[in-house]
Amino acid sequence: MRQRKIIKSILISSGLFSLILTGQALATPTSQALSYTCAGCHGTNGASNGSAIPSLAGLSKDYLVEAMEAYKKDERSPTIMNRIAKGYSTKEFELMGDFFSNQPVHQNSGQKYDSAKAKAGKKLHKKYCSSCHSEGGTITDDEAGLLAGNAALFMEYSLIDFHDGSRDMPRKMKKKIKKMLKRDKDAFDKLVHYYSKGE
Ligand code: HEC
Ligand code: HEC
Repeated sequence: MRQRKIIKSILISSGLFSLILTGQALATPTSQALSYTCAGCHGTNGASNGSAIPSLAGLSKDYLVEAMEAYKKDERSPTIMNRIAKGYSTKEFELMGDFFSNQPVHQNSGQKYDSAKAKAGKKLHKKYCSSCHSEGGTITDDEAGLLAGNAALFMEYSLIDFHDGSRDMPRKMKKKIKKMLKRDKDAFDKLVHYYSKGE
């Protein structure tokens, strides 16, 4: 009994006791603290400067939450994100969405590209993709991710995954891609060079 009293007084004096009583010590971490765990891969505040890992900075909250839910349910074909997403709740995805949607959109301008292919890719994008991915896909309010200036390899395998059906895409996007590839079988390559260049 005496020992308990001593422990209690230590807890009270350290402020821990009231935290435990109100349950706050076990409460969800803040949106910033949660999002910092993503920085090791996705860059500071979600601004990625690599070619394999996409940027999160400036993505809309709804888009980020939906992407995380899809990873959690194995509805995308990722290398790692499915395992990461399974560790969090929807509430935590929403908190991450609050944080990243408040960061400025980031374009990685340091990627290599072929100028002629990038030019051809821009034309293709305007013709087949810009109705949903406006301004090169840099307007994240479109709820369709970030394309120009995003990590080139991620763009490349996203397109391949959509095309082979391992990631769902809107029906209209599927139609446009089919039409585009019929006319130009190298279209993906050109688009990826354009997205590497950025807008
Ligand atoms: C170990 C590295 C790593 C960590 C840590 C990590 N990610 Fe990822 N993330 C990736 C990779 C790689 C991809 C590309 C998909 C894949 O291959 O899994 C990705 C893709 C994503 C995408 C898809 C973006 C898009 O435009 O479609 C979202 C959203 C995302 N991550 C959110 C997060 C959040 C939120 C966290 C922190 C809780 C996080 N990631 C932590 C490596 C990581
Ligand atoms: C009808 C609207 C529409 C059209 C047209 C469209 N897209 Fe999309 N696109 C979307 C939506 C919505 C998403 C988000 C899908 C999801 O929830 O994962 C998306 C996602 C993407 C992504 C993945 C982004 C990321 O960060 O994960 C790529 C790459 C992409 N589209 C490329 C294209 C290309 C290339 C074209 C033109 C050939 C195109 N899209 C045409 C609506 C469209």
